[in-house]
Amino acid sequence: MIIAPSLLAANFGKFAHEAARLEKAGADWLHCDIMDGNFVPNISFGPAVVKTVNEATKMFLDVHLMCVNPDILFEPFVKAGADQLTVHVELEDRVAHLLWKIRSLGKKVGLAINPPTSIEAVKPFLKSIDLLLIMTVNPGFGGQPFIPETLPKIQQAAAWRKKMGLKFRLEVDGGINFETSVECARAGADTFVSGTGLLGEKQLKRAITKMRELTTKASSHSAR
Ligand code: DX5
Ligand code: ZN
Repeated sequence: MIIAPSLLAANFGKFAHEAARLEKAGADWLHCDIMDGNFVPNISFGPAVVKTVNEATKMFLDVHLMCVNPDILFEPFVKAGADQLTVHVELEDRVAHLLWKIRSLGKKVGLAINPPTSIEAVKPFLKSIDLLLIMTVNPGFGGQPFIPETLPKIQQAAAWRKKMGLKFRLEVDGGINFETSVECARAGADTFVSGTGLLGEKQLKRAITKMRELTTKASSHSAR
């Protein structure tokens, strides 16, 4: 199981310090939510912030691009230290080229899908990705409640992964706390983004360890 706290819920005045604190608390990845004010109605932060964070930690940087034109940002984020770049399947006919471009930059390739989009949309790309990000809230803001209707999509993606003999990671993002992470793990998720759920905890190390243990147990008990 991979636990990936989201920087979006961190103190914006202390990004480098927060990243170091998350690393020390045992986070596996650091999830960076990039919003362009167009794909989603919000703006977060850009490559300069990711570079600062990269200098403060050795953590794997999982960069989620909620952007209409993510390709103009690929190189700046790679230079800033991104290890994985994730684009949205809602970009439709541009998706295949975007995935290829990330691969050609030598980075891990992620594909994200929003709650209203049919899971069928990702099927043609499953062989080309390292990570499928199933959004469990509508993207744009941290702190929203988990949408349980996304659980069957996780189950379907996990079933395809098994049937096709693929190894992409199955990540969930939005409203993830101890309870919802367990539901997602039972459905087949193995990578958990959590912003307000984890960063709101006083004892961060204990919270990260607890989420990893709960999801590992839930996954081994599921019928997959
Ligand atoms: C939503 C972002 C999420 C968000 C999760 O647009 O993609 O990564 O930071 O935040 P929480 O865990 O607070 O829902
Ligand atoms: Zn995200």
